[in-house]
Amino acid sequence: MNTLEIKRNADIDYGTPVRKAATMVTLEIDGKSVTVPAGTSVMRASVEAGIPIPKLCATDTLEAFGSCRVCLVEIEGRKGYPASCTTPVEAGMKVRTQTPKLADIRRGMVELYISDHPLDCLTCAANGNCELQDVAGQVGLRDVRYGYQGENHLVAQKDESNPYFTYDPSKCIVCNRCVRACEETQGTFALTIDGRGFASRVAAGQNEDFMDSECVSCGACVQACPTATLTEKTVIMMGQPTRSEITTCAYCGVGCGFKAEMQGDKVVRMVPWKDGQANHGHSCVKGRFAWGYATHKDRILKPMIRQKISDPWREVSWEEAIAYAAGEFRRIQQQHGRDSIGGITSSRCTNEETYLVQKLVRAAFGNNNVDTCARVCHSPTGYGLKQTLGESAGTQTFDSVMKADVIMVIGANPAAAHPVFASQMKRRLRQGAKLIVVDPRTTEMVRGAHYEADYHLKLKPGTNVAIIAALAHVIVTEGLVDEAFVAERCDAQSFSDWKAFVSRPENSPEAMAQVTGVPAETIRGAARLYASGGNAAIYYGLGVTEHAQGSTMVMGIANLAMATGNIGREGVGVNPLRGQNNVQGSCDMGSFPHELPGYRHISDTTTRNLFESAWGVTLNPEPGLRIPNMFEAALDGSFRALYVQGEDIVQSDPNTQHVAEALSAMECIVVQDLFLNETAKYAHVFLPGSSFLEKDGTFTNAERRISRVRKVMPAKGGYADWEVTQLLANALGYPMNYAHPSEIMEEIARLTPTFHGVSFDKIDRLGSIQWPCNEHAPEGTPIMHVDEFVRGKGRFIITKYVATDEKVTQRYPLILTTGRILSQYNVGAQTRRTENVRWHSEDRLEIHPHDADERGIREGDWVGIESRSGQTVLRATITENVQPGVVYTTFHFPESGANVITTDNSDWATNCPEYKVTAVQVMPVTQPSEWQKQHQRFTQEQLELARVDG
Ligand code: SF4
Ligand code: SF4
Ligand code: SF4
Ligand code: FES
Repeated sequence: MNTLEIKRNADIDYGTPVRKAATMVTLEIDGKSVTVPAGTSVMRASVEAGIPIPKLCATDTLEAFGSCRVCLVEIEGRKGYPASCTTPVEAGMKVRTQTPKLADIRRGMVELYISDHPLDCLTCAANGNCELQDVAGQVGLRDVRYGYQGENHLVAQKDESNPYFTYDPSKCIVCNRCVRACEETQGTFALTIDGRGFASRVAAGQNEDFMDSECVSCGACVQACPTATLTEKTVIMMGQPTRSEITTCAYCGVGCGFKAEMQGDKVVRMVPWKDGQANHGHSCVKGRFAWGYATHKDRILKPMIRQKISDPWREVSWEEAIAYAAGEFRRIQQQHGRDSIGGITSSRCTNEETYLVQKLVRAAFGNNNVDTCARVCHSPTGYGLKQTLGESAGTQTFDSVMKADVIMVIGANPAAAHPVFASQMKRRLRQGAKLIVVDPRTTEMVRGAHYEADYHLKLKPGTNVAIIAALAHVIVTEGLVDEAFVAERCDAQSFSDWKAFVSRPENSPEAMAQVTGVPAETIRGAARLYASGGNAAIYYGLGVTEHAQGSTMVMGIANLAMATGNIGREGVGVNPLRGQNNVQGSCDMGSFPHELPGYRHISDTTTRNLFESAWGVTLNPEPGLRIPNMFEAALDGSFRALYVQGEDIVQSDPNTQHVAEALSAMECIVVQDLFLNETAKYAHVFLPGSSFLEKDGTFTNAERRISRVRKVMPAKGGYADWEVTQLLANALGYPMNYAHPSEIMEEIARLTPTFHGVSFDKIDRLGSIQWPCNEHAPEGTPIMHVDEFVRGKGRFIITKYVATDEKVTQRYPLILTTGRILSQYNVGAQTRRTENVRWHSEDRLEIHPHDADERGIREGDWVGIESRSGQTVLRATITENVQPGVVYTTFHFPESGANVITTDNSDWATNCPEYKVTAVQVMPVTQPSEWQKQHQRFTQEQLELARVDG
């Protein structure tokens, strides 16, 4: 199937969901023989046979409901007129879909609907894209005998509270599709049908406005609505789209497929793609609605340069900006040595762009000083999984969760950070899967609509490794190890060493209860459930990695999965929930200073030779500087210039003041971005970046799934990001001449064994591909380590708990931990420039009532938070979601200064910062912190220097 065919197929609505069954059933519809899997509805069988049946309440993303009675058929030997959407096929069935009687009944039904519908089709936002209009046409409705004067809902009040869609009850046909979408697809259960019979209408929450209800604005109801009742405000404003293109969301690591629906080069709406293999037609508020940042007035579209950061920015041509940047890089290298410059790749840019930046650093700068923001999130995943399993990536597809019997979520809140996957996980939980949550906070994953964790291990921040040791202790000492799996698949010596280690009394739940704060019985119960509850899958996030023992914990998780045989098939596995859209890809593409693409060490001569002959350069066999080392080197004067593509290190890296000092010490910082972000305030060259809508390429999601990003509008600044890197390389005297990103992917595939079989053509044909994709797996690898581990035998590694150096003391008695919220994304540069601020307009400090009481803090008070690194001020939210002794905040607003407080402590193996554990004191205050005042002044100065409207 080519791309066009994929798109066309997705546009057909089969009325009811696809069924998978071993048994096939043959029946006859309008004289045509049709064979479908058992359990398929008559409606779906008919549509598959090319015989559409009118319908209103059915759609193939939802289970049939059977309320509208428009889809009636005649079945030989059966009385009456059964609804085809709720009637399953039977062998030998003879169905008629078109008879005069059926036509009469259908016309009568539609007539009733229309008699209570405003007949403003010509001016309706859904005109041309309304199922009610289509059905009225299909049944040949010409008149409404009841007149339009009777009782109706035509004057019902609209709900326009949601910034992205309206609810106009006058157009509601009470088909229940929105209610089912909110339940089945999203899992929020925010909608009900209120009232009975004629009076019934859709209601959000307890008959509230959408904004006041539990609605999380995922858009599933809008998507499901067959009329203009629930409609995107952009469609109301702009009218119906005229063309569409399939692309991939640029927000989180779920990697949802979207149809960008356009008028010319303007986006009218983003519709989740039904054939998207990561999202199956679902979305969240970010990808579905928060795309307005791409055309926001704050975008900087002209290159700018300045010599000092106190100088005004000067708009210049691309030629001048590139020549200036290249000239500065070369001058600095001549004066301070080849290693005095480096680059940072972006996990928001495409694989092809990331690959080019690391190539530029290695081949044109001539060193390995390249790093990426994965340093501050999932670098421990790369290290830990490589050591134990042999590959630095998650083991499963998202769909695999539907086969899990036990789900363990550690240090992750997918409902906020990976919402579409969370919906799928919640669906599985509603089907009865068991749930273990390991988290210091009571997040939405602990308890929600129709699910509740069987065990919540509410541990003290920083004690993950103690918990994993205690879980392992129970599994080993209670005989719950899958001995056959371990004997066949794992390294015997490492297993026996590990077994002896975890069996020690100091690793028992009873001993560890002191350390973790989790009762021993809870740990024992969770361990027994994980080891013996059937297929058990672990999903983890930054609450695992962003610790001094982040890599240790990742290895501990892999140990647990191997010991219980929970790896190598559907429903199990070790699944890092990677945060940003392309953080997996940026790691795969060789963004780390010690690794070439495909995680091959730079010291490996064979690999280096391969790249040297392809790139025509000699590569340095020594790893380059990691981001924190770049900062240190900048402060000691040996590192002087940096090329930063699509990454805001000042806001996202720990110890902001330290980062700012390091950047201030450099002579040339080149920032390529959409906005004048926090890092750009320290820059000397600004190169306009391009959004995902403006370029071609690929993103790789948390399941290793490579999906296409397709250009739907010209690059607003003139060039896509990959073209800018190419211009810079050429100006540095290192030729790059790619005509299209597909040529970059050809090079990646040629040089990277796990990508040998990847090409744009193949992705277009298959929809997406999960690497490894090569001679052994030409269509990709959904599940890893099936018959053996990538490294051969799985290797157990001893994971000894070591308390972090970040200790609570009398001066700093509380532990601050950080996280995200659904409506905002990371440093917030994109989402803060959308209506998503309506849900979260500031970062707040969550504090337990007991700790608040002790300090005289009331809800909404300004509180000062002080750590060993710095101070900031936020407003307080008092909640029992955090335990006493723990405070929590998000980090989406630069002025919050969450990273002014975080320290330089980091993971022993990878330098990933210990964001999740900072000892702090919290006290009521009346004014912003010194840092905040200074930040405000500096921001104002920089905006004036750039003449950008604040
Ligand atoms: S937008 Fe999503 S959460 Fe809100 S009511 Fe619709 S389906 Fe439910
Ligand atoms: S709002 Fe739309 S989907 Fe919901 S019941 Fe009314 S017409 Fe159906
Ligand atoms: S942010 Fe993530 S979950 Fe939301 S639409 Fe985008 S990829 Fe999907
Ligand atoms: S589509 Fe079958 S009853 Fe509504």
